[in-house]
Amino acid sequence: MARIAIVTGGSRGIGAAISRRLQDMGVTVVANYAGNEDKAKAFEGETGIRTFKWDVGDFDACQAAFAQITEEVGPVDILVNNAGITRDATLMRMTYDMWDEVMRVNLGGCFNMAKAVFPGMKDRGWGRIVNIGSINGQGGQYGQVNYAAAKSGIHGFTKALAQEGAKFGVTVNALAPGYIDTDMVAAVPEDVLAKIVAKVPVGRLGQADEIARGVAFLCGEDAGFVTGSTLSINGGQHMY
Ligand code: CAA
Repeated sequence: MARIAIVTGGSRGIGAAISRRLQDMGVTVVANYAGNEDKAKAFEGETGIRTFKWDVGDFDACQAAFAQITEEVGPVDILVNNAGITRDATLMRMTYDMWDEVMRVNLGGCFNMAKAVFPGMKDRGWGRIVNIGSINGQGGQYGQVNYAAAKSGIHGFTKALAQEGAKFGVTVNALAPGYIDTDMVAAVPEDVLAKIVAKVPVGRLGQADEIARGVAFLCGEDAGFVTGSTLSINGGQHMY
């Protein structure tokens, strides 16, 4: 039987590319989305990938969606925690709500979804969890104390859960994208973005599918010995 995957934020941007790649691998994909109903329905029509609307930052909503997906689609083998938001501002201008919303969705979403899928993966002895971190969680970014903290948290979360999953055949990895050509990056002021791109050795933004290919590898049968790792795909912008 085909493996079943949930991709959070899976109907747009990097998430949509991940959903398509996993589908190409023969995985049955379910894509979560939070707000943009029109885009989600268009994506569903185009790909045949079912989309479900819920807020990954809401613990109870994650439990309910997971139960519905298990019932209607089947047991979940693969989780890609991709959903993420930005609320950029310098600390001086950042409100508590801007901090809290980013922590709740970007980091809280990983916890909420892992809580839902992990027990079943453990019981069946196979699972893949891939958490989308960020270059800005590795190196920080001016104007992003909230986002950098949440993404950095994802990298720690990944390493801790990898240790818990290893003996049950559940691998947990992170992928840290650099600046990718998506709506999120398009929201960065043009002059600021030009300065960032000038510092990328490869000399351009990445494409969503360049991230999706890395995720597909980490989700595959062949990646069973890869766990607790971070795959950085950033055009050489951050090397360590
Ligand atoms: N390093 C040092 N100083 C910087 C700086 C930087 N990277 N960026 C801005 N500044 C300085 C400016 O030079 C300016 O200084 P002065 O006041 O002395 O002239 C000051 O900060 C204010 O800059 P802005 O005019 O840009 O101020 P603002 O309040 O309008 O905006 C900002 C600040 C919100 C941080 C804006 O610069 C911004 O959006 N920056 C981009 C942040 C970013 O890269 N976000 C990534 C989004 S994509 C993403 O997150 C995906 C991913 O994972 C990679």
